[in-house]
Amino acid sequence: MTVLLVFGLFVVIVTAHNITLLEVPRYGDPYREANLKCHYANDKGDPPLHSVKWYRGNNEIFRYSPGQQPQTRTFNTTIAGVTRGSCNEHVCSISVVLPRTYNMRLSFTCEVSTERPRFAVVKQTKNLTVAVTLKDDPLVVGVPSSAQLGEDMELNCTTGPAMPPANIMWYIDGRPERTEPWMVNNTKVSGANDFGLRSSWRSLRLRVATARDYLHLRCEATQPTWPPYVRSTNATLMVASPHLSMFTASGTKSTLAEIFLLAASCTISIKCV
Ligand SMILES: *[C@@H]1O[C@H](CO)[C@@H](O)[C@H](O)[C@H]1NC(C)=O
Ligand SMILES: *[C@@H]1O[C@H](CO)[C@@H](O)[C@H](O)[C@H]1NC(C)=O
Ligand SMILES: *[C@@H]1O[C@H](CO)[C@@H](O)[C@H](O)[C@H]1NC(C)=O
Ligand SMILES: *[C@@H]1O[C@H](CO)[C@@H](O)[C@H](O)[C@H]1NC(C)=O
Ligand SMILES: *[C@@H]1O[C@H](CO)[C@@H](O)[C@H](O)[C@H]1NC(C)=O
Ligand SMILES: *[C@@H]1O[C@H](CO)[C@@H](O)[C@H](O)[C@H]1NC(C)=O
Repeated sequence: MTVLLVFGLFVVIVTAHNITLLEVPRYGDPYREANLKCHYANDKGDPPLHSVKWYRGNNEIFRYSPGQQPQTRTFNTTIAGVTRGSCNEHVCSISVVLPRTYNMRLSFTCEVSTERPRFAVVKQTKNLTVAVTLKDDPLVVGVPSSAQLGEDMELNCTTGPAMPPANIMWYIDGRPERTEPWMVNNTKVSGANDFGLRSSWRSLRLRVATARDYLHLRCEATQPTWPPYVRSTNATLMVASPHLSMFTASGTKSTLAEIFLLAASCTISIKCV
């Protein structure tokens, strides 16, 4: 009796189905259905599948029970309702309609149970955040093909429509744009388009200063979702130092005299500054 019981327990532990992959997108666009998939497997000779259940939070929204009629049932169709479900002994897919509440986090659980002798149950949960993520990297405009040291310029970084709207940060040679505390949230946000989505932009006023012949600029757009969704664009600004531009202007190899002249003029200009 005891031996049988121990053997029975052993069998139960080994013969549960395993969830091999739970596919729940991190972000779900409320204007499209989200497709969720639960993959499972069992070992040869294991008891058959009893049921697969999907939960949103703690509420069951879908059930597949191959031994019953009907085989599939949907529940609680009001919030994150299931529109379609298609399951077999390896995979169970459902499509859900998401609420239009941006940044809302929904958790989805797939629960697989195995037939007799014991209804062994395995489950896995993943979260989905309702958001329309940026489809493209931000666009940086206003970068001239080259600039002079000390030149002032204004660049603009814009994102496409998204929700929630992105916060934009500029980085110059890897360092965040110098901002005063009241400037940190300097991202401007457009009005909502027909789908309720908003674009962001932020301009950067810059006086060119570098010891090298280029500046590395980076615009980073971050949607405050969980986890944050980040897209960024790099741009390189070529900086022509005065002697380099004279070299190019002459179009010939410089003579020693020219170099001397340049050195002199540089010294003078540095002294003048
Ligand atoms: C299920 O998981 C157990 C323990 O992780 C493993 O021993 C078994 O081989 C797995 N079975 C399948 C079909 O993946
Ligand atoms: C449906 O959702 C309600 C709350 O939203 C919950 O009380 C109820 O138990 C759910 N039904 C099922 C079958 O999970
Ligand atoms: C899902 O979100 C909840 C809070 O809403 C959190 O406690 C949990 O750790 C998250 N799970 C994963 C897998 O990120
Ligand atoms: C930056 O781009 C946005 C969107 O194209 C535009 O509305 C805004 O006026 C621009 N700002 C500057 C300072 O050019
Ligand atoms: C901007 O402000 C919003 C709320 O007003 C905040 O959630 C966000 O983190 C801020 N962004 C930055 C970059 O400080
Ligand atoms: C942009 O620059 C950063 C470092 O400043 C680098 O990590 C990243 O890979 C670059 N991205 C592209 C697309 O070149």
